[in-house]
Amino acid sequence: MSVPSSVLIVGSGVFGLGTAYGLALRPEYKNTKITVLERVPFPAPDGSSIDSSRIIRADYASLPYAQFMAETMPYWRGEWGEEGRYSQSGLALVTENKPGSDDATRFLNEVVKNITEQLGLKVGRKEDGADVTLFQDREGAKQATGAKGGYIGDKGMVNWTSGWAHAEDGIKYMRKKIEALGRVQFRTAEVKRLLFNSSNVEGVELVNGEHITAELTVLATGAWTPKLIDLRGIASATGQVLTYIDITKEEEDRLAAPDQPVLLCEHDGMFIIPPRNRVLKVARHGYGYANPVTIPNPENPSEKITVSLPRTKLDDPNMEIPAEGAAVCRDFLRRAIPSLGDRPFTYTRICWYTDTPTGDWLITYHPKYKGLFVATGGSGHAYKFLPTIGERIVDVMQGRDRDALGVEMRRRWRWPEQRAKVDHVWTDDWRGEGRKGMVLDEEYKKGVRAEGSRL
Ligand SMILES: Cc1cc2nc3c(=O)[nH]c(=O)nc-3n(C[C@H](O)[C@H](O)[C@H](O)COP(=O)(O)OP(=O)(O)OC[C@H]3O[C@@H](n4cnc5c(N)ncnc54)[C@H](O)[C@@H]3O)c2cc1C
Ligand SMILES: *[C@@H]1O[C@H](CO)[C@@H](O)[C@H](O)[C@H]1NC(C)=O
Ligand SMILES: *[C@@H]1O[C@H](CO)[C@@H](O)[C@H](O)[C@H]1NC(C)=O
Ligand SMILES: *[C@@H]1O[C@H](CO)[C@@H](O)[C@H](O)[C@H]1NC(C)=O
Repeated sequence: MSVPSSVLIVGSGVFGLGTAYGLALRPEYKNTKITVLERVPFPAPDGSSIDSSRIIRADYASLPYAQFMAETMPYWRGEWGEEGRYSQSGLALVTENKPGSDDATRFLNEVVKNITEQLGLKVGRKEDGADVTLFQDREGAKQATGAKGGYIGDKGMVNWTSGWAHAEDGIKYMRKKIEALGRVQFRTAEVKRLLFNSSNVEGVELVNGEHITAELTVLATGAWTPKLIDLRGIASATGQVLTYIDITKEEEDRLAAPDQPVLLCEHDGMFIIPPRNRVLKVARHGYGYANPVTIPNPENPSEKITVSLPRTKLDDPNMEIPAEGAAVCRDFLRRAIPSLGDRPFTYTRICWYTDTPTGDWLITYHPKYKGLFVATGGSGHAYKFLPTIGERIVDVMQGRDRDALGVEMRRRWRWPEQRAKVDHVWTDDWRGEGRKGMVLDEEYKKGVRAEGSRL
C-alpha cells in the first residue's frame, strides 16, 4: 500500500490520537502531512476517552484481546502509568450465587488456579503476596475485596495485577508524546460532512464551510461516527450511566487503600473504582440507552435514516441521568458501601459507547470509498489499549501482518460482510444480565431523580 501524502484524522480520543501516534512513529510516514481535528477544545469533556477513570485489566475471556493486553500492561506499569496515571489496585470480579452452582464454582476456581499458576502467578491471600485471590462465599467476597463492608456478591476473584487509569490524564499524556514528535498538527474544528464522491472521500467540510482535503481521511469520531457515515447495523452509540459522589479525606484513605480493588459485578455490570481527589465513581457497564435521531443519510442526503447518536452536557448543560440509571447506581452504592449509601450524587453523566454486535472494534478501510479509513467501535473496552493501539491501527492501514495476533485482529476489525438487520446495534458483548432496548427519551419520560446538584 502506498504512503499517502496527507492523512486527516478526525477525533482525538483513544483511536484518533492512537492513530496519530502510530503514524508519527513510523519512518515511512516522515513526509506525510498528519493533521488531527477535534470538534471542541482538547480534551473533549464529553468524549468517551475523557473521565476520571477507566479499568485496566488483561484477563479477557477473548484470547486475542488478552494477548494484546498482555503486550500493553507493561506500558501502564512503566512510564505511561507514572504520576498517578495508572494505579494497580487490583480488580475484583464478583458474581451472585445461583442455586446449585457450587460445584461449578469449585471447578471454575480450580481451572483459574491452574491457569494462573501456569502463568507463574501466585494464588492465595493478598497479605501473603498473592497475585490472584479466589473466593466462593459472601464472607470470602467481603474479606477479599477489603473494608467497604457491604454485600457485593458471593463468589469471584481479585486479580491484583489489574487496576485503573486516570483516563483524562492518560489522553493528555498521549497528546504530549505526539506533540514531542513534532509531526502532527492539531486543530479545533468540527467536521460537518465528508467530501464523498461515488467511490472516494477527498477530505472533509467543516461546519464553517471550509474544505480540508487529504489523500487519506481517518474517522475516529467515536460514538458520533454514525452521523458521518452510514453505520446502520454496524455500530451504534449507547449511553452508559456514570455517577460521582464527594467523600472526605478519611473516607478516601479507607477506600483507596492498597487492599481496595476496583469492584465489578458480573451479574449486573455495576462497578466502583477506588476514589481519587475525594470523588468516588459508581457506574454501570450495560447495554445502555439508545438515542435515536433522524438525520439525512450522510452518504445519500436525500434519504432520511434514524440512528443513535450521543447527547451530552455540551448539547444540554442541565442534562442528568434518567431515574432508572440513578436508581441502580444508588442501590449498588447502598449495597457495596453502606456507610456512603445515601450520599448525594454531586455529578452524573451519560458516557457513550460505540457498540458493535460482537464487541470487536471497527478498524479498516471503508469498502466503498477509497481514501477513507475508520478506527472506531470501541464497544466500551478500548481505553486500556491507549499506549499500543496506534501501532496496530497503522499495521492495518499498511496491510501489514506483523504477527499472528495482527492477522487475527485484522480479521476481527474488518468491515462486516453483512449488516445486522436492525439499524440500532445492541451488542452481544458481555453486559451482565442488563436490559436491552432502553431508549433515552422514554426513560426521561419516566423521570429524572433529583439528587444533589450538578457541579
Ligand atoms: C462510561 C464508559 C466507561 C468505560 N470504561 C472502560 C474501561 O473501564 N476500560 C476500557 O478499556 N475502556 C472503557 N471504556 C471504553 C473506552 O473509553 C472507549 O472505547 C474509548 O475511549 C473510545 O475512544 P474513541 O476514540 O472511539 O472515542 P472518543 O474518545 O469519544 O473520541 C472521539 C472524538 O471525536 C470527536 N468528534 C466527534 N465528532 C466529531 C466531528 N464531527 N468533528 C470533529 N471531531 C469530532 C469527539 O469530540 C471525540 O473527542 C469506557 C467507555 C465509557 C463511555
Ligand atoms: C490476572 O492478570 C494477568 C495480567 O496482569 C493475567 O495474565 C492473568 O491471566 C489474570 N489472571 C486471571 C485469573 O484472570
Ligand atoms: C488442576 O491441576 C491439577 C494438578 O495438576 C490437576 O490434577 C487437576 O485436574 C487440574 N484441574 C482442572 C480443573 O483442570
Ligand atoms: C472521485 O474522486 C477521485 C479522486 O479525486 C477521482 O479520481 C474520481 O474520478 C472521482 N470519481 C467520480 C465518479 O467523480
